[in-house]
Amino acid sequence: MVDEARPRNLIPSGRDVTAQPTTTAPDTPVTARPGGKLAGDIVVPGDKSISHRALMLGGMAAGETVIEGLLEGEDVLRTAAAMRALGAAAERGTDGKWRIRGRGIGGAIEPADVLDLGNSGTGARLLMGVLATCPFTTFLTGDASLRRRPMARVTTPLSMFGASFVARGRNDGKVLLPLAITGTADPVPIVYRTPVASAQVKSAVLLAGLNTPGETTVIEAAPTRDHTELMFRHFGVDVRTKPAEDRAVAITVVGRPEIGGRTVRVPGDPSSAAFPLVAALLADHSKVTVRNVGLNPRRAGLYTTLKEMGADLEMTNARIEAGEPVADITATFSVLKGVEVPAERAPSMIDEYPILAVAAAFAKGDTKMRGLAELRVKESDRLAAVAHGLQACGVEVFIDGDDLIVRGNGTPPAGLASGAAAIPTHLDHRIAMAFLVMGLAARNPVAVDDARPIDTSFPGFNELMRGLGADLR
Ligand code: S3P
Repeated sequence: MVDEARPRNLIPSGRDVTAQPTTTAPDTPVTARPGGKLAGDIVVPGDKSISHRALMLGGMAAGETVIEGLLEGEDVLRTAAAMRALGAAAERGTDGKWRIRGRGIGGAIEPADVLDLGNSGTGARLLMGVLATCPFTTFLTGDASLRRRPMARVTTPLSMFGASFVARGRNDGKVLLPLAITGTADPVPIVYRTPVASAQVKSAVLLAGLNTPGETTVIEAAPTRDHTELMFRHFGVDVRTKPAEDRAVAITVVGRPEIGGRTVRVPGDPSSAAFPLVAALLADHSKVTVRNVGLNPRRAGLYTTLKEMGADLEMTNARIEAGEPVADITATFSVLKGVEVPAERAPSMIDEYPILAVAAAFAKGDTKMRGLAELRVKESDRLAAVAHGLQACGVEVFIDGDDLIVRGNGTPPAGLASGAAAIPTHLDHRIAMAFLVMGLAARNPVAVDDARPIDTSFPGFNELMRGLGADLR
């Protein structure tokens, strides 16, 4: 029930993201049935990572930013609402473009209420980077999934700038949402070596560095997605990147620049495109093209891996848009073989392991996915969720330390036994989509217990897949 007395934050796209938070709306089970071949030519919604960053940078720029192709998924709409609460104007025009009028770096105002980032780790962690240098107190929370996710990885470096935090979880040695962050008026620049390969941690530090006098440097042991660096440059911020020892990269931002508004064109999300493309690889006689997919090399590890497995994937019309490589991708039904996926590749495909594990279940031989510790702290414990889901579908799967091993025999897996419980999605959009794809090509249908989380990153997924011929009910 919606509390009528509560102020409602109507998003201009017409969807009200506060009236039905994912935490309280009823579950929506969906079943995918095998059978039909998939065919068609589609676009997928805008890139989630780039969308968050475009809104945040637009909100920190002085002047108007126009965003084309913004992902209007719940996660990103929460970031738009947060930027509004900090005093930026952020509206969707009737032309589908978003116009952001920022307040300039350091110009944010104290939010009047708690900011609820819903399911979004990126929204929460990057926003903390923005807030670390805002001299007021902001309260942040999220849904049940986000409230379980570790925040010390960002509060530790942001404290070094001078920000302070009061957070839940202290008695267990954790830093969890809800938390209060008090930003500093006199931030000091830092040099920070990230202990985990995380673009979110890197980005939080760089965003804090943006409003800090002098030079802030992040050293990441392994290169992670560089959308923040590219977006900073697009807005005219001085960002320098240089190789450090081994595979490490040092990124330096020169703080307190004057930045004006820009136009940002957001490409289709490669992490979303993965679902219809893998579905086409697995369902007999299928051929699907997804146009305008972002193919930043630090995001494209899944496509490298699928090609190694023998996938017929064709990239055409390669081009650069707003500093990001983009192409059209066509996937044609393929016979796949198991491969070993090295740990070093994990950051470039960290969100793609659920759908890769599903593809591996159809391949002949073992697919060994190494170095997946970070999967335990995503929207769900994805290592456990993938393993349990595959087992329920009759697939042999092993977790060995931080590695996931899927044993395929080259034929479609059974799918769910009749009368078996639906796969639990644990408020995780990618678990939901991965197992629905499984159901389109397995021998028996696959049901997921709750498809609502899909709206966080891929609104319209069911309809788009049905348009390709998928039987999703
Ligand atoms: C993201 C970084 C990744 C990824 C997430 C989006 C980003 O997280 O899993 O979906 O936009 O920076 P980590 O950087 O924590 O691995």
